[in-house]
Amino acid sequence: MRRILVTGGAGFVGSNFVHHVMATTDLDVTVLDKLTYAASPAALEGCPPGRVRLVVGDVADAEVVGPLVAGHDAVVHFAAESHNDNSLRDPAPFVRTNLLGTFTLLEAVRRSGVRLHHVSTDEVYGDLALDDPARFTEASAYDPSSPYSSTKAGSDHLVRAWVRSFGVPATISNCSNNYGPWQHVEKFIPRQITNVLAGGRPRVYGAGRNVRDWIHAADHASAVLRILERGRIGETYLVGAGGERSNLDVVRLILRLLGRPEDDFDLVGDRPGHDLRYAIDATKLRTELGWRPAYSDFEAGLADTIEWYVAHPGWWRAHKREVEAAYAAVGQ
Ligand code: NAD
Ligand code: DAU
Repeated sequence: MRRILVTGGAGFVGSNFVHHVMATTDLDVTVLDKLTYAASPAALEGCPPGRVRLVVGDVADAEVVGPLVAGHDAVVHFAAESHNDNSLRDPAPFVRTNLLGTFTLLEAVRRSGVRLHHVSTDEVYGDLALDDPARFTEASAYDPSSPYSSTKAGSDHLVRAWVRSFGVPATISNCSNNYGPWQHVEKFIPRQITNVLAGGRPRVYGAGRNVRDWIHAADHASAVLRILERGRIGETYLVGAGGERSNLDVVRLILRLLGRPEDDFDLVGDRPGHDLRYAIDATKLRTELGWRPAYSDFEAGLADTIEWYVAHPGWWRAHKREVEAAYAAVGQ
C-alpha cells in the first residue's frame, strides 16, 4: 500500500486517523470529505506537506467516488452523519450519506478491486441492561434503536453482502463512544465542557444513569490502522478500551476537573428511545491483532481533552450558539 483514500477525514475520528497514519506509516492520504457542519479542515493542519490532499466531495456521488477509488490502494470509510439527536430531528441526510454513500463506495470498490475498511459503531447492537454483566461481541445480534444506528447497521449489512456476493475485500470495525480533541460541541463530553466554559451548566438527559464505554479517538485510530494492515478480509472487529462510565459519573468528573461543585448540573428531558448501556468485549482485536489502547486512564484523557477545549475557544464558540439553540427548541 502506498496511497489510501480516507472518507470523512476532516471529521473528528477521521482526522485523528489521518494524523496517526502520518505519524506511524509512509502512506500518502487523500481525504474525501463533503465538509458538512461537522467537518474541521483545521484538524488536518500540521500534516506533512505533500502527504495529505483534501478533495471536497460527496461520498454518495458516484462520478466523484469512482475515479478516486480506482487511483488508491485502499479506502477507509469514516464519512457519515454521526449524531443521534440530529437523526431524531431529520433522518434524511443519515439515510442518504450512511446508506447511499456506503453503497456508492462499495460499487466503486467492486469495480476496482480496492481494499475497503468500513468504520462503524457498537450502536448497531442496540443496548444492554444496566445490571447485565454482558458486553457486545462480534456475535451479538443487530438490533439498532435510532435512525442513526439503523443506517449504520444497514451500511454494515451492505458491506457484508458485497463481501459475500461479490468478493469485495473488506473489513468492518464497530467502536464504542470516542472522546478527545476536535469533537463537535453537539456531542456529550464537548457540550458539557463548553457549557461550563461558557458560564452555564451541564445538561444531562433523563436520570443520567445511561452508560457509555469511552475510548480516546487516538486509540480508535490505531485500531482502525491495525485492522487495515493485519485484519482478515470479511471479518468484523469490535473496538473498545474498557471505559464504561455512567453519564452522571462523567459529568461529575468534568465539573470536578473544572473546579466546580459536582452537583452543578441540570437533568433535562430524555432522548426518545435512549439506549441504556453500551459495553465492548474487544478480545478478538486484542488477541488476534495484538492491539492495545494507549489511553488506559480515562480521567487523564478527559483532563487533556478539557485543556484542549480551554485552549481552542475560537473553534468551538463558532458552533456553540447554533447547537444550543437546536437543543433548546426540544427542551434539552
Ligand atoms: P463527525 O460527524 O465528526 O465527522 C463526519 C465527517 O464526515 C465530517 O467531516 C463530514 O463532513 C463528513 N461527511 C458527512 N457526510 C459526508 C458525505 N456525504 N460525503 C463525504 N463526507 C461526508 O463523525 P465522527 O464522530 O468522526 O465519526 C466518524 C465515523 O466513525 C462515523 O462513521 C461514525 O459512525 C463512526 N464512529 C464514531 C464514533 C464516535 O464516538 N465518534 C464511535 C464509533 C464509530
Ligand atoms: O457508541 C458509539 C456512538 O457514540 C457513535 O456511533 C456516535 O457517532 C457517537 O455520537 C456516540 O453516540 P451517543 O449517542 O452515545 O453519544 P452522545 O455524545 O450524543 O451522547 C452520549 C450520552 O450522553 C448518551 O447517553 C446521551 C447523553 N447526553 C448527550 C448529550 C448531547 C446527555 O445526557 N446530554 C447531552 O447534552
